[in-house]
Amino acid sequence: MLQTGIIQSNRRVAKDIYEMVIEAPEIAAAARPGQFVNLRLSSRLDPLLRRPISFHKIDAAAGTFTILYLIAGQGTALLSRMEAPSEIDVLGPLGNGWTCSFPGVHAVLIGGGIGAAPLYPLAQALRDAGKEVQLILGAKSGGSLTDTAPYTALGVDVRVATDDGSAGFHGFATQLLEQAIAEDRCDYLYACGPQGMLRQAEAIALAHQIPGQVSTETHMGCGLGVCLLCPSKMKAGGYKRTCIDGPVFPIGALDYA
Ligand SMILES: Cc1cc2nc3c(=O)[nH]c(=O)nc-3n(C[C@H](O)[C@H](O)[C@H](O)COP(=O)(O)OP(=O)(O)OC[C@H]3O[C@@H](n4cnc5c(N)ncnc54)[C@H](O)[C@@H]3O)c2cc1C
Ligand code: FES
Repeated sequence: MLQTGIIQSNRRVAKDIYEMVIEAPEIAAAARPGQFVNLRLSSRLDPLLRRPISFHKIDAAAGTFTILYLIAGQGTALLSRMEAPSEIDVLGPLGNGWTCSFPGVHAVLIGGGIGAAPLYPLAQALRDAGKEVQLILGAKSGGSLTDTAPYTALGVDVRVATDDGSAGFHGFATQLLEQAIAEDRCDYLYACGPQGMLRQAEAIALAHQIPGQVSTETHMGCGLGVCLLCPSKMKAGGYKRTCIDGPVFPIGALDYA
């Protein structure tokens, strides 16, 4: 659905990362973890295309949702300059979202960089379903990490890995995934982040026959399955539209080559 949302707040929460709360009651009521909105960022022609951003928090009772976004280029820079209270054109909820049930108890959620944004509502849903949740966050350095307290408050076991060792484990998030598997604490894997990390996390899961899902990112246009600007290559052959067949796919389905 298309709704004019009202920006309630928009603040910087880490290096180049902002958090925006948008009031849009119908979209918030329909949103599920792992889905996204397509935002129109200018009334002018540039940028022409909407920008896809995941739901980071969903509060149906308050009629709001929160997005967590990294300034990547012109569109997200425009987004960071929008002030509360102002209007924003929101199309959503879009995409298939995570499936939150699986056999077993231990879920590992692995997120790289801003890719961790869609993991919070997933962690909430899994905890509500009685699952044990470990969150592994990977980042370049401690300055790029957002607050993990909301996860800890849910009872999630949070582990951090940074490339430069400035916070948590000095190394890659996928090394912490291997550790969780070795300790028999991963029945099911959810992964979201840069392609390199997804590819590696999938390879580890497949080697240990651990099922799961990954959320992938491609460039997008309409978000509605019409423009074909968002192809994800499938191992079984052919392509799927990331906007409506994804962005969440089962582990082993995507062809990263
Ligand atoms: C389903 C989905 C959910 C997303 N959720 C979030 C989120 O929660 N938070 C967040 O910060 N970002 C998210 N993104 C990525 C976000 O959409 C892009 O960063 C944004 O569109 C960039 O727009 P821009 O105008 O700022 O940058 P542009 O000037 O358009 O691009 C800047 C650089 O980023 C690359 N880029 C742009 N869009 C994408 C993309 N979709 N995939 C890979 N590379 C891209 C471009 O090639 C270019 O190198 C999501 C993307 C998808 C597809
Ligand atoms: S973004 Fe248009 S078909 Fe997917």
